[in-house]
Amino acid sequence: MVCFSDLLNFNLRRDFLKKKDKFIFLCQSCGAQTPKWMGKCPACGGWDTLVEEKIIAASGKARPITSPKPVPINSVDVAESHRLQTGITEFDRVLGGGIVDGSLILIGGDPGIGKSTLMLQVLATLAQANKRCLYVSGEESVLQLSMRGKRLDSGSDSLFIVAETDLDSILSMVEKEHYDAMVIDSIQTVFHPEVSSTPGSVTQIREASMQFMRLAKTTGIPIFLVGHVTKVGAIAGPRIMEHMVDTVLYFEGDKSHIFRILRAVKNRFGSTNEIGVFEMREKGLSQVPNPSAIFLSDRSTVAPGSVVTSSMEGTRPILVEIQGLVSSTGMGNPRRTVLGLDHNRVALILAVMEKRLGMNLSGLDVFMNVIGGVRIVEPSADLAIAAALASSFLDKPVHKETTLIGEIGLTGEIRAVSHAQARIKEASKMGFTTCLVPSSAMKQLSKVKGMTIESVSFLKDAMEVLFDGQED
Ligand code: TYD
Ligand code: MG
Repeated sequence: MVCFSDLLNFNLRRDFLKKKDKFIFLCQSCGAQTPKWMGKCPACGGWDTLVEEKIIAASGKARPITSPKPVPINSVDVAESHRLQTGITEFDRVLGGGIVDGSLILIGGDPGIGKSTLMLQVLATLAQANKRCLYVSGEESVLQLSMRGKRLDSGSDSLFIVAETDLDSILSMVEKEHYDAMVIDSIQTVFHPEVSSTPGSVTQIREASMQFMRLAKTTGIPIFLVGHVTKVGAIAGPRIMEHMVDTVLYFEGDKSHIFRILRAVKNRFGSTNEIGVFEMREKGLSQVPNPSAIFLSDRSTVAPGSVVTSSMEGTRPILVEIQGLVSSTGMGNPRRTVLGLDHNRVALILAVMEKRLGMNLSGLDVFMNVIGGVRIVEPSADLAIAAALASSFLDKPVHKETTLIGEIGLTGEIRAVSHAQARIKEASKMGFTTCLVPSSAMKQLSKVKGMTIESVSFLKDAMEVLFDGQED
């Protein structure tokens, strides 16, 4: 017996077929296409990520071709005035010195980290400098946005807000009126009515990003796209979005801390090493011009396991505290818990310490943490990691005014690091009086007032300088 709903489905399907619509299956995590549904994506290996989506056929109309005239590269005026300064120094620096006209900037981060707050504040400062700015929100109503604006003191006659998710409607807003900058919060909520899939799907995100890209390039308006981050840490939607935009910024931080770090992971107009440090306060985000002072502010007494190193974040040295704890294990397999550092580097350093210093660490639990929710990926922190672990293992503190920099090689040698002079200067500014540096870096170093520079060639030498002479 044919049931009514089957008949209905059959008729619906036949209607689809009549229109000669084509369907494909699109992976929601990597963007790969397959003609048939599969449980596992053949490209990225993701399970249950393929979703059926309609292909929009080309209209078939002949389009007028107006090709631009190529010009010599030297004839283009590239004055710095093409960058829009927001006045928020931490933000401008991450972008390489301001917002480049016509750039498409993606800003990603965990929910609730402060992306909307940051973008509203950026537009508010631009608006205060008489730039016309547009904030398009698909997540909050106009009332909610203006409430947030009041709290942040972001009121201005040149800052316009609108709650809209329809792509065509957003595009027509910009065609009608001129704006100097705009924010789309978030790209996952924008949808194109002609694309059958739901907002946030690969096709929708790709279509919307492409349209905004075109808008930015043709009008010269810088456009910020706010993007959500998936559980694994990538910006939700396919990675193609990261390829399409000019700049990808990540806003990160530990929600239990007030610090937030803005990091560029891709930048067509500047370096990707720079970071901007902010604090989340009751009245929004405020800049932290001297991060070293903040990261070391709780360091009144020094206990075994705590060490300070000078880490380069772009062109800026920042002092951070690294903590290590070595304790006897309660389980068969000792734990290795590492926060804010590279897990593999810590494992390598543990192996070198075991072999070259004869410290029996393999049967002990090891915990490592960087204070303030900061992440350090530089090898120059190796010596500090080893010192923190040794200090905890020996139960002897490292002197409060001693800092260390150096990369550790597999033979236990201490290798040179970049920008040693700048790192030492920053340490001296923060009241440190002794610095352990790789002996190969000594040649390029000049004296820093009030700082004793100790050169070390091997990990063993460093341990002697730090712990010899301390009572057991
Ligand atoms: P929000 O910008 O909404 O985050 P996102 O857009 O990344 O999801 O920020 C939300 C968090 O920020 C919220 O948990 C509260 C905090 N916050 C403050 O502490 N002070 C403030 O002035 C504002 C606006 C938010
Ligand atoms: Mg938000």
